[in-house]
Amino acid sequence: VDSEVDRRRVLRGLCAAALALPPAVHALLVALHPLARGARRAWRDAGALDALEEGVLKPFTHEIAAGWETRKELGFLLRRGGGVVAFRARCTHLGCRVRPAEGGFHCPCHDGRFDLDGRPAGGPVTRPLERIEARVRDGRVEVSG
Ligand code: FES
Repeated sequence: VDSEVDRRRVLRGLCAAALALPPAVHALLVALHPLARGARRAWRDAGALDALEEGVLKPFTHEIAAGWETRKELGFLLRRGGGVVAFRARCTHLGCRVRPAEGGFHCPCHDGRFDLDGRPAGGPVTRPLERIEARVRDGRVEVSG
C-alpha cells in the first residue's frame, strides 16, 4: 500500500512539473522542432551550379522533417539554363525510389515513368514527382529544408 501511495505521489509530482513548464521552455521546444525550423526556411548548399550539366539529372541528399526528427533522402537536381529544379526521388505511385532514365525518371517497382519535368509519362503513375524548393545564389545551388 505504501508503494502505491508513493507511486501516486510521484506521478502527481511529475504531472505538476509538466504543467509548470515555463513558457520559455515551451517556446524552445517548439523552436527546435524540425517543422518550426522549416518554417524559417533553412537553405542548404547543394554544390556549384557549374557542376551541373544542362538536362542531366544529378543525385543529391537532402533532409526532410519526419516527426520530431529529420532524415536524409535522395533527390535529383536538374539544371535549366541559369536556374535549377530539384525533385524528390520518391515515386508518387507507391513510394519506391525513382532513377534517372532516358528522357526522365524510371521507377523499377511497377515500370512507372516520369519526364524530365517530373510529369507522369507511363505506367501506373498519375501524379508528378514532388519538387524541392531550389535556388541559385552566387553560383551555388541551394535547396530548402
Ligand atoms: S511505386 Fe513507382 S510505379 Fe509503383
